[in-house]
Amino acid sequence: MTLRQNLISAKVAGRRQAWLTAYDYPSARLLDESGIDLILVGDSLGMVVLGQKDTIDVTLEEMIHHLKAVRRGVTRAPVAVDLPFHTYETPDQALASARRLLEAGADAVKLEGPLPEQVSLLVSSGIEVIGHLGMLPQQVREEGGYHRKGKTDSEAEALLRASLALQAAGCCALVLELVETGLSKEISSQLDIPTIGIGSGIFCDGQILVTPDLLGLQPWFRPAFVKPKADLATPFKNAVREFIAEVQTP
Ligand code: KIV
Repeated sequence: MTLRQNLISAKVAGRRQAWLTAYDYPSARLLDESGIDLILVGDSLGMVVLGQKDTIDVTLEEMIHHLKAVRRGVTRAPVAVDLPFHTYETPDQALASARRLLEAGADAVKLEGPLPEQVSLLVSSGIEVIGHLGMLPQQVREEGGYHRKGKTDSEAEALLRASLALQAAGCCALVLELVETGLSKEISSQLDIPTIGIGSGIFCDGQILVTPDLLGLQPWFRPAFVKPKADLATPFKNAVREFIAEVQTP
């Protein structure tokens, strides 16, 4: 079964998708062993691993480097990877970039925005594509921040139309980021492919989070919609302090 067939049959069966991000071998392996449905090598890499302020400067080479590490840790879950900014401006560029990610071990690629032509070419070339609509992190500088989408009727209609167009172009799933709950519910009910929400309410067909947010590993930045399931920054620092004390006072 292809990823697309799997995702559609999960939606038909009412099986909700739990997806998380990974950027390295150990976290990918732990996610895989925990039974996660899909691992995304997100370009959130820029912020949560590389210490940048957004995803804009992440390069294809950096994504490939981290994707390869993740791939080595995963035997079960599908591995998807973000096409970083400026690597899919035309359908041909998208295809060349996506092929490099597939060679490095990706099972699917994700791209941001209403770009059905890019999606069509990738899908007709045998590549599984995940769409991403709503707040688009690669547009954050132009938008001046992370703003909720679909508040006005015209914005909501445009998002619904774009979702249907991405499905028609062949996307196997659609990430909806910071989309109004009523609208994400409507989009989810109109699509056959699963919607995967992030800060978009409970009615999506699945949810995705940035793993360090879930684990409380970066207390200096927590998106409002995240309810961390752990506070790993505290045991991390405690273990380091214990080690320092042991070394200093043998
Ligand atoms: O880059 C990323 O991590 C994402 C998300 C949807 C979490 O695109």
